[in-house]
Amino acid sequence: MEKWWQSAIIYQVYLRSFKDANNDGIGDIKGLIGKIDYLEEIGVDTIWVSPHYDSPMDDNGYDIRDFYKVSEDYGTLEDFKELLKEAHERDMKVITDLVLNHTSDEHPWFEAAKDPNHPEHEYYHDFYIWHEPKYEDGKRKRPTRWIGWFGNPAWTYNEATDEYYLHIFSRKMPDLNWRNPEMRKAMKKVIQFWIDLGVDGFRVDATNHLEKNWDFPDGYPGYENFSSLPKHHEYLQELGRELFHPNDLMIIGEAGGATREEALQYAGFDSEEFNMLIHFEHCWVDTDETNTLTPGKWAKGTVDITRLKESFYRWYKVFKDKGWNAIYWHNHDQPRIVSHYGDDETHWERSAKMLACALYLIPGTPIVYYGEEIGMTNVDYENLEDFRDVEVFTEYENFRRNGASHETAMQALRDRSRDSARSPMQWSDAPYAGFSEVKPWIPINSNYETINVERQQQSKSSILSTYKTLLALRAKENLNFADLTFYDISHPQSFNYLSTGEHHEYLVLCNFSEKPLTMEFPLDLQTFDVYYSNVDIGKAERKSEEFAPYEARIYKRKRQ
Ligand code: GLC
Ligand code: CA
Repeated sequence: MEKWWQSAIIYQVYLRSFKDANNDGIGDIKGLIGKIDYLEEIGVDTIWVSPHYDSPMDDNGYDIRDFYKVSEDYGTLEDFKELLKEAHERDMKVITDLVLNHTSDEHPWFEAAKDPNHPEHEYYHDFYIWHEPKYEDGKRKRPTRWIGWFGNPAWTYNEATDEYYLHIFSRKMPDLNWRNPEMRKAMKKVIQFWIDLGVDGFRVDATNHLEKNWDFPDGYPGYENFSSLPKHHEYLQELGRELFHPNDLMIIGEAGGATREEALQYAGFDSEEFNMLIHFEHCWVDTDETNTLTPGKWAKGTVDITRLKESFYRWYKVFKDKGWNAIYWHNHDQPRIVSHYGDDETHWERSAKMLACALYLIPGTPIVYYGEEIGMTNVDYENLEDFRDVEVFTEYENFRRNGASHETAMQALRDRSRDSARSPMQWSDAPYAGFSEVKPWIPINSNYETINVERQQQSKSSILSTYKTLLALRAKENLNFADLTFYDISHPQSFNYLSTGEHHEYLVLCNFSEKPLTMEFPLDLQTFDVYYSNVDIGKAERKSEEFAPYEARIYKRKRQ
């Protein structure tokens, strides 16, 4: 039987940067409520709200201090209830982030865990992961050389107990011990609370890190000791069986680097874990392995279109009839898609529309990231102080230590840091882009006078109009359930596929490149009509045709 989350169209709101209603420079729940009509107008029916919980904001709310409280930055629990009410009245759903891997170091559990004089120390100590120091030549050393995801050592010393605690993200985010049944019980209470309040599901954060290698072998960076270890599935199944599935929730699990072998375990129709999976496989097909100054995800290279197509196609096939796919270009942890895989200068508008065509006729439940629908670009910050993300500052130091110049390091931050996609939503050309009336918590991109919602709402040929057209088509033709055929996978420039909807077939032809392309049509176009095009074209009658840089067309015909 069809589930509601299969036909959903999701929009991710990064709360802090979406809309500031009380003019303190920080986006908030009331701001979001004021924009629900806008979301409805785009054709979205599910809102994913990034962490709204009480937090010291070391990692913009992924470091939770109180799971039961709404951050004062964002409003109150009453505001959150109002959000649910306003959304539900419009038949829209709301899902929230659920952060299971860690808490803030200011969470009362950790306060008790780290302090031997705390009355509940013994009970809470085991909620986290501790290790005694190692000594070399009489000098205290970290238990292992493991490096966390933000580029810093994964252990921090706690003098009061003479132990190190593990944190695979920032030092203010101690990892929880999922082997402890008492901790799991406490976490399940948290989840039940939000279900009872009426949330429709969760985007579950960092799920594949819940289990660690408790032998704590040394290793550098040591990721294999805290990523995708088999036992994490057990924890997820426990939550799935007891909470997620009985409540008909939408559960999107984040598991970066998940393999296709694990896919059905995570998000197969009989899986006890999620309904769908975020794996990021297609998000970094442009890294330059030879770059040693700003290595890994930071090394910007050319986009490998073949790998991109392969990734989408294989994940589609893995889940076909057996499970469910989520489709997305990016989120708050990757660069803005038009800057990342498109061209945010010469061909800004056309490439943003091409990217929309390339993704949004592919089956699965789509997730649009805020600002994507108007082609927002990576930030243009000149100074290190303009950035906010905790990861930026550790990595900047690492780049400099590798020998990168200040300018090279800054360029990597603009291109690849998580802040590149976290600048405030550009609503209009008013001061502060209509996001707020005061200086926001993170600078506005200076291109807001040309790239903004208000301007695009006035034009039928804007990027925003393209999104509306495609999402409306998606709903009308039930494209979440479409059949998919990719063509010419090994072609380094074209991105062509056929999506079979309820009534029609749609042939999507994209020149995924800044160079012109002689497009070989994979099917005879005689029986097709032009449905959409991001450049002016006449009726195509030849077997091939010259496509402009980033040109995209959609042809349609009745289902045969
Ligand atoms: C996830 C989030 C990211 C956060 C991390 C730690 O990857 O998407 O933003 O920093 O988990 O919670
Ligand atoms: Ca505010």
